Amino acid sequence: MRRQTISKGYLSISLTSIALSACASTPPVELYSPLIGQKVFKIASAEVANQYPQYTDTVNGIWKYFDQNTWTVGFFPTTLYALNTRAKLCPSLAGGHDWLSLGRQWATGEIPFEVVNGLQHDVGFASFPFQEELVVNPNNKTAITAINNFATDLAKRYNAVVGCTRSWDSADPTDFQVIIDNMMNLEILYASTALTGNNTLRQIAISHADKTIANHIRADGSSFHVVEYNSTTGAVIRRRTSQGYADNSTWSRGQSWGIYGFATMYQNSKLPRYLDTSRRMANYFLNAVPSTGIVPWDFNAPTSPPRPADSSAANIAATGLLLLSRLEGSLSPPNVTGAKFWSDAAIKLLSDNTKLAWRPAWQSLLANGTVNKPAGNSLTGIVYGDYYFIKAGNDLLSMGLTSCP
Ligand SMILES: *[C@@H]1O[C@H](CO)[C@@H](O)[C@H](O)[C@H]1NC(C)=O
Ligand SMILES: *[C@@H]1O[C@H](CO)[C@@H](O)[C@H](O)[C@H]1NC(C)=O
Ligand SMILES: *[C@@H]1O[C@H](CO)[C@@H](O)[C@H](O)[C@H]1NC(C)=O
Ligand SMILES: *[C@@H]1O[C@H](CO)[C@@H](O)[C@H](O)[C@H]1NC(C)=O
Ligand SMILES: *[C@@H]1O[C@H](CO)[C@@H](O)[C@H](O)[C@H]1NC(C)=O
Ligand SMILES: *[C@@H]1O[C@H](CO)[C@@H](O)[C@H](O)[C@H]1NC(C)=O
Repeated sequence: MRRQTISKGYLSISLTSIALSACASTPPVELYSPLIGQKVFKIASAEVANQYPQYTDTVNGIWKYFDQNTWTVGFFPTTLYALNTRAKLCPSLAGGHDWLSLGRQWATGEIPFEVVNGLQHDVGFASFPFQEELVVNPNNKTAITAINNFATDLAKRYNAVVGCTRSWDSADPTDFQVIIDNMMNLEILYASTALTGNNTLRQIAISHADKTIANHIRADGSSFHVVEYNSTTGAVIRRRTSQGYADNSTWSRGQSWGIYGFATMYQNSKLPRYLDTSRRMANYFLNAVPSTGIVPWDFNAPTSPPRPADSSAANIAATGLLLLSRLEGSLSPPNVTGAKFWSDAAIKLLSDNTKLAWRPAWQSLLANGTVNKPAGNSLTGIVYGDYYFIKAGNDLLSMGLTSCP
């Protein structure tokens, strides 16, 4: 990938040729298609007790369902909250549905799982609907309790010698595994600190993020999927992959969780090292996307035979880039060039990957998701891919980068 440096006033920005060649200002029309509300409503109104969609089959795009004790439990309820937000942004897209009631109804099934540690570190993802609920109704006691309980669950997984929260449990308790995805779950700690004033939670988030910078992120801004620490000495034992192509490769979804997670850490802490890390990870991501614009499941996977895409990684990265764009705009003075650079890149990612993955005939909005390639699970729709697609569409509207159809 050709790179060039442009100096513009006080800015010196390294830009990818992808973004430069993009006339990226027009988001794909599919982001605001009425099909979105129609498809999601069909699934939402056919609620099956305690069952939540996670990914589809590869032929007809029919959802497969999982119980509440699954890391993806929160994404469908939070999709319904996102459509409530959308209905406010563009009343013409509400489709006549009460998305808020549906979101609340679907979130309710998660409540018994607040104090079950089966979700392990993924309590942050599970808490999204409750965080959305507090935006609508800051006094909702059920949502406040859920957030505090989930945060306490995550804090229990913190080890002060390692300086991280444990991601996955392992048979040998001294084998302490941390995955890059875990950056997304730190937000719950800030949310709970904001509700309770308990600063220990915030300090845990900072420690975890700092260790992740030190041990997961490579000098070029790429990332390892898994770092294993020794829980008694704190030493790094191993750096490896679980869902990526190789131990030293960069799994694209992990990279996208990192972009987004560090941007969120900066938003919450205002510590410049997190903004810097999110930018470095974002630059790596954009430079690693091939000229087709399609995000592969792993940036280092062989290209022959053709490697499957991961449309979810594209949508998570795009939504993370839009947050990065807002954060550049919030600097004093606002980094206008940086803000535009990231939002243009986000729109280009959305355009290129939507063109590949949009599937009107499937239950999911998109296809071409990779859940877990080493486990043989790719070419599906994915609930979090669809969620971040809708969220990106909402963010573009609220940032004034597009308008309602
Ligand atoms: C509070 O939030 C929970 C969880 O989202 C929901 O089930 C409940 O209906 C909400 N309560 C009120 C009064 O809005
Ligand atoms: C703050 O949170 C930590 C982690 O959950 C907990 O151990 C501690 O007791 C809490 N402190 C207070 C004052 O509630
Ligand atoms: C961690 O270190 C302790 C003490 O040196 C050792 O007994 C244990 O086997 C180590 N665990 C791993 C997973 O390397
Ligand atoms: C990973 O390691 C293999 C074997 O040492 C090497 O051939 C490959 O170039 C490495 N890949 C990256 C992305 O560093
Ligand atoms: C996208 O998905 C279709 C099937 O739904 C498949 O034929 C195609 O090869 C996939 N493309 C990529 C790049 O994954
Ligand atoms: C503006 O944003 C770009 C892209 O993140 C960055 O390279 C540059 O250093 C930023 N400028 C300032 C003054 O923060």
